[in-house]
Amino acid sequence: MKTATAISQETSTGLNIFDYEYFKSCLIEYGKCNLFKDTEEWVLDDNPYRRTLRPHIFHHLDFSQPLNRQNLLTYNSLTANRTLLTVYESNFVFLPKHDFSEKRKDFEKFYDSRLQTLGSIIQPWLEQYIFSFLDTEVTVTGNWTATAVEEYFNEYIETVKNTESSLVMETIENSIDPVHAAKTFLIQLAGDFLVESSAMSRNILGSFGSLQSELFKLVIDEYGYGVHQTKHSRLFEETLESVGLESTPHTYWQFYLTSSLMLNNYFNYICADHSKFFRYLGAIFYAETSFIKSCELMAKTLKKVFGSTINNRYFLEHVHIDHHHSRMVLDKMIKPAIAKYGEKIIPEIVRGFEEAKLITEIADQDFIDQVHWADEGAKYKALAQPVYAKIQDGSINPKMQQFIEPRGELSVTHVHDGDELCYIESGVLHFVTGNNRYTVLNAGEGTVIQRNRLHGAIIDSEECVYNIYSIGDYKKCLS
Ligand SMILES: [Fe+2]
Ligand SMILES: [Fe+2]
Ligand SMILES: [Fe+2]
Repeated sequence: MKTATAISQETSTGLNIFDYEYFKSCLIEYGKCNLFKDTEEWVLDDNPYRRTLRPHIFHHLDFSQPLNRQNLLTYNSLTANRTLLTVYESNFVFLPKHDFSEKRKDFEKFYDSRLQTLGSIIQPWLEQYIFSFLDTEVTVTGNWTATAVEEYFNEYIETVKNTESSLVMETIENSIDPVHAAKTFLIQLAGDFLVESSAMSRNILGSFGSLQSELFKLVIDEYGYGVHQTKHSRLFEETLESVGLESTPHTYWQFYLTSSLMLNNYFNYICADHSKFFRYLGAIFYAETSFIKSCELMAKTLKKVFGSTINNRYFLEHVHIDHHHSRMVLDKMIKPAIAKYGEKIIPEIVRGFEEAKLITEIADQDFIDQVHWADEGAKYKALAQPVYAKIQDGSINPKMQQFIEPRGELSVTHVHDGDELCYIESGVLHFVTGNNRYTVLNAGEGTVIQRNRLHGAIIDSEECVYNIYSIGDYKKCLS
């Protein structure tokens, strides 16, 4: 039956809630909450409310133009992704494992209605800022039919079945420090897995017939049918604990790569915005299907790296259950949805599949690059000398900033948009490239910092004077 009353186009010229200046001032206000300010620790165990966003820099940043494929891993992107995940997760319930009374003020602040309101205002701008690149990077063309999409997705199931290796797992195994690389990988997963299925649970409310009940089946599997010890996030806690990592959400907040945050945000984005429900169906089909093989390969690599100490139950459980989940999404959700809502929804489903695949590929490459970068600490340290010599002899004249910092001063992890040279005038600085991983830099030493690579620093002398030169491209400096 057609709707009897046509709804006229509604436009309002009176109030522009998508005004950039309005967004920016709300973002700066949001950053004033002291849960988000810089910290003096690398990790923060058992306090899910505190997440450093480096908000003192917010007013310098320009978010007016969306990101594109070339600048997805910039400082602005890291900031936007850290902030957006914080906003999304203010809809989730977090309680610390211990000492609630000491953290009660943080708990109240995190869920404070003013902060929530500011979060709701900045959320759509950040989403557009981060994810608009998908509109140009992913094109879905052609006349899709139910049969064509089924074939396409069945082919993908076959491709996954026939996959025998993963570049990410090879990178871990070939790293000069496979244990560190594997832990870095687990840390990337922890951002999402310790709150597993929370994003998808945004889709179980409402009224949408049998699809709703099918989705609910998936969700209850993820939640271990109410048996806490089998809840997937609990299984992942055990994996982390078995290799000596903390298992509370966001302990390792500072060590999430930009793309890991982006992947996590993507699922929140398409699940929070219900106009993207069909896109979600494609994305979840991708996630459930690809996970069958990636979990198998992860379990293998982790066993190789950690030996029998690793608790791999999380991964082994997914090899099993995601066979079912992949089929359930295709047979019980995607196919019935197309039959009921028409073939016009197919491009949205395919788009979700392609978008999730693309962001996963971006995250894989980012992780691989970070492992190589951390492995090559000595190489980048050695490169500081010839680059510094070029500055000294005047062949290059980059912009320089000098910092004088006391013992223990910590620079929260961040990235730069171009290569930089960090050169120590006096004192000692630990240049940090991952959790518990650093290069010691003494006076007269330095390091080249590669663009887009996550790093931080901490001072290990009474005082340290160091210079940061914005060299743009270190290879050009040396050519
Ligand atoms: Fe799961
Ligand atoms: Fe699953
Ligand atoms: Fe830096």
